Amino acid sequence: MSKIVFDSFCDKDTFDIAYRLANILKKRSGPVAVCLDGDLGVGKTVFAKGIGAGLNIKRDIVSPTFNIVKTYEGDKRLHHFDVYRISDISELDEIGFDEFLFDDAVILIEWSTLIEEALPKDVIRVVISKNLEKGFDYREVAVEGMDDEDFRN
Ligand SMILES: Nc1ncnc2c1ncn2[C@@H]1O[C@H](COP(=O)(O)OP(=O)(O)OP(=O)(O)O)[C@@H](O)[C@H]1O
Ligand SMILES: [Mg+2]
Repeated sequence: MSKIVFDSFCDKDTFDIAYRLANILKKRSGPVAVCLDGDLGVGKTVFAKGIGAGLNIKRDIVSPTFNIVKTYEGDKRLHHFDVYRISDISELDEIGFDEFLFDDAVILIEWSTLIEEALPKDVIRVVISKNLEKGFDYREVAVEGMDDEDFRN
């Protein structure tokens, strides 16, 4: 499985890439873990909102920073984690992280690299990065762990 790279030139592009991804993932049954990484302010929350819209979640997706996880019901359930403020991996045990990983849901994990040792083997990795040579609002959105064919048509 190769890395699929998308160009994003504005918020809406990033939102739309996530929207498409969610529409593919919601056809899968069982847990689907999506790791979402990139520097501060790069657009992870914009991406999460696109995932929410693609899953047909009506509520606005807001960053769960202070409660680590928020759950939303949609065509497929979404557990949205933001582990930025986790200081110790044992905090994940306290919230029962492993049980979320078994749920029939999309498990979206912002700042996943901070909890690498707790992640399942089978994950989709999304990394958003800037490239100022391509413009202030440019973002590269790289998706690993999916087939190119999934994104056709
Ligand atoms: N191509 C783009 N894609 C996404 N966001 C963009 C893009 N261009 C500009 N932006 C702006 O970048 C900011 C991204 O903010 P966002 O909160 O989504 O980042 P974040 O990665 O979640 O940050 P944090 O690490 O602080 O949670 C927004 O202000 C958004 O308008
Ligand atoms: Mg954020």
